[in-house]
Amino acid sequence: MGLNAGGRSASLGVPMRPRVLMNMAMSFDGKATSASREPTEFMSLEDRRRMFALRARADALVVGAATALDYDTMGIPDPRLRAVRLRRGQREHPLRVIVSGSLGVSPSAKIFRAPVAPLLLIHSRRASRARRARFARLAHALECGRDEVDVRRLLDLLGAEYRCRTVLCEGGPTLNDAFFRAGRVDELFVTLAPRVVGGRTAPTLVEGRGFPRLAEAPAGELVSCHRGKIEWFLHYRFR
Ligand SMILES: NC(=O)c1ccc[n+]([C@@H]2O[C@H](COP(=O)([O-])OP(=O)(O)OC[C@H]3O[C@@H](n4cnc5c(N)ncnc54)[C@H](OP(=O)(O)O)[C@@H]3O)[C@@H](O)[C@H]2O)c1
Repeated sequence: MGLNAGGRSASLGVPMRPRVLMNMAMSFDGKATSASREPTEFMSLEDRRRMFALRARADALVVGAATALDYDTMGIPDPRLRAVRLRRGQREHPLRVIVSGSLGVSPSAKIFRAPVAPLLLIHSRRASRARRARFARLAHALECGRDEVDVRRLLDLLGAEYRCRTVLCEGGPTLNDAFFRAGRVDELFVTLAPRVVGGRTAPTLVEGRGFPRLAEAPAGELVSCHRGKIEWFLHYRFR
């Protein structure tokens, strides 16, 4: 099927938008981490395995600038999952996408030293030329939006230019907000971890601007609810 520059199927005239999965872990009280914003450490081995199985479905893995600092590679460590991907005709690891509107992310972060798969750095017009120059040899920087990164445009780009059919967003809470406000979350996977974190400033699953009125808040439909050894694994559909 041919594609034109706007990311549309030339024959059908419909946008080639990838399906978006979002995967997050949260405490009993809905927190994605503590107030000190340390890497989320309440994941069990079982949850980690589920996370990688989900990641193995994705053509692209998208994370925000703060979350990117938590990662070594954003790849898939299990060679069996990688082999399944190759048999399906996918690349061994998903395309890696980091959203950093101002390009405030540090070029010395370890994620920029791990050459497992191509790395796109998506910024807005707020990113100065000097900041873009810092990533010249580390990632492919692309402007996508004026003040904040426009999630709809980003997904159109991933569908049209990078042939992505399934995109996985692994947070964090600020980026999740942009995906929900853009109305582009199709499925949400939540691990309910047996912890109470508390604290007014500890981020919840979705931060940012959110939805000022309950009537506008997206409502999910429960697909499945699996009881693990210590956690509950919830799967919701939004569209
Ligand atoms: N529990 C979990 O499953 C889970 C998952 C992921 C992360 N976390 C935790 O969450 C914490 C980080 O939270 P966070 O909300 O700060 O993370 P985040 O969304 O990964 O990063 C926020 C940064 O990403 C960029 N960004 C996100 N959305 C954008 C948009 N629409 N347009 C432009 N830029 C955008 C901005 O970067 P610039 O400042 O460069 O513009 C922003 O400052 C960490 O402690 C992490 O460990 C938990």
